[in-house]
Amino acid sequence: MSTHKIHLIAGARPNFMKIAPLFHALKSESWAEPLIVHTGQHYDSSMSDNFFRDLELPEPNYSLGIGSGSHAEQTARMLIAYEKICIDSPPKLVVVVGDVNSTLGACLVAKKLGLQVAHLEAGLRSFDRQMPEEINRILVDSISDILWTPSPDGDMNLLNEGNPGRVKCVGNIMIDSLISILPRINREFAAQEIGISSPYTAVTLHRPGNVDQMNVLGEIVKQLEALAKEMPLIFPTHPRTLNRLKEFNLLTRLKENSNIHLLEPLGYMEFIGLVVGASLILTDSGGLQEEASYLNIPCITVRPSTERPTTIKEGTNLLCDPPSIFEAFEKMLSSPPKKISIPLWDGQTAARIVTDLKDYFQISTSN
Ligand code: UD1
Repeated sequence: MSTHKIHLIAGARPNFMKIAPLFHALKSESWAEPLIVHTGQHYDSSMSDNFFRDLELPEPNYSLGIGSGSHAEQTARMLIAYEKICIDSPPKLVVVVGDVNSTLGACLVAKKLGLQVAHLEAGLRSFDRQMPEEINRILVDSISDILWTPSPDGDMNLLNEGNPGRVKCVGNIMIDSLISILPRINREFAAQEIGISSPYTAVTLHRPGNVDQMNVLGEIVKQLEALAKEMPLIFPTHPRTLNRLKEFNLLTRLKENSNIHLLEPLGYMEFIGLVVGASLILTDSGGLQEEASYLNIPCITVRPSTERPTTIKEGTNLLCDPPSIFEAFEKMLSSPPKKISIPLWDGQTAARIVTDLKDYFQISTSN
């Protein structure tokens, strides 16, 4: 039997933990040949190489090196670079994950060449079309052949939109990576690296809507200073955020605050070590809302909407705008969430995907 070449597309930091469990699961199947395509949307070691190491991923089979730029520049470079690969050596299936520009670029190239595409983490919607990621989600879901959703709200959104793809609720792939890394993390990361033991708040902020305007980032810094009077903050700083803090002359204020600890971006293992020891998470990330919910750590998300409503419904996550951060902090700490258990957030998502693919390709061998 000839093997099925399956491209796994990853470009930005939040993609790597989504392809890893699927790569490892497919690698042990005799019928499948998983190939990693790194688009290079994120390229610093701290944003990429460290994740490959921690997730035990091999060197990518293809590196496109598309880098940073405007949405149009990034997507256009992606289209040109990935099309060449698909023409030279077409895969049987292209798997795209999440909602970044690399996801859209790869999906568009593959479908225009008549290739099969599966979208992993399909169906998520914030219903906010100001978010570039929402545009990417809608477009990718509307043309993908297979739509693997993390939760039933995803199935419902796809149904309401009338997407023609084959929908299957497989669960949350990111939780597969989280579960597999938990035995290896250093739960004392903050104590050993920074000399802080619990309680502390772990902070991550990088959304253009929060960091690209001086008045908004200035308000966030003010709120962080107020929080730091109550609890130490540990803040691994994304390159975009660091650049803006410098540009708006806000960095020195944060650096001089003895209760605010700025760090370089962390690798996956160190970051989860930091998160597990935290009393609270303050973020604008997508995935961290779910990781915090799974770990039962109260999470405050500085965004007007979320594409992950399960976290709000379960009470583990609270949305707020920049001026309400301190208020949200007090509210979350006065009524911490109860332990939750979400169906299909169980570490078995990659295995369910492999089963679904065998069904899709009508593979009858037992591996
Ligand atoms: C992407 C995703 C976003 C995701 C984010 C995670 C889209 C539309 N957006 O944003 O959903 O939450 O990644 O980080 O695809 N930079 C570096 N080194 C790097 C990467 C970036 O210095 O390795 C700098 C760039 O020069 C630029 C900024 O960080 O100034 C852009 O970073 P970010 O906002 O993360 O990148 P996007 O790819 O735009």
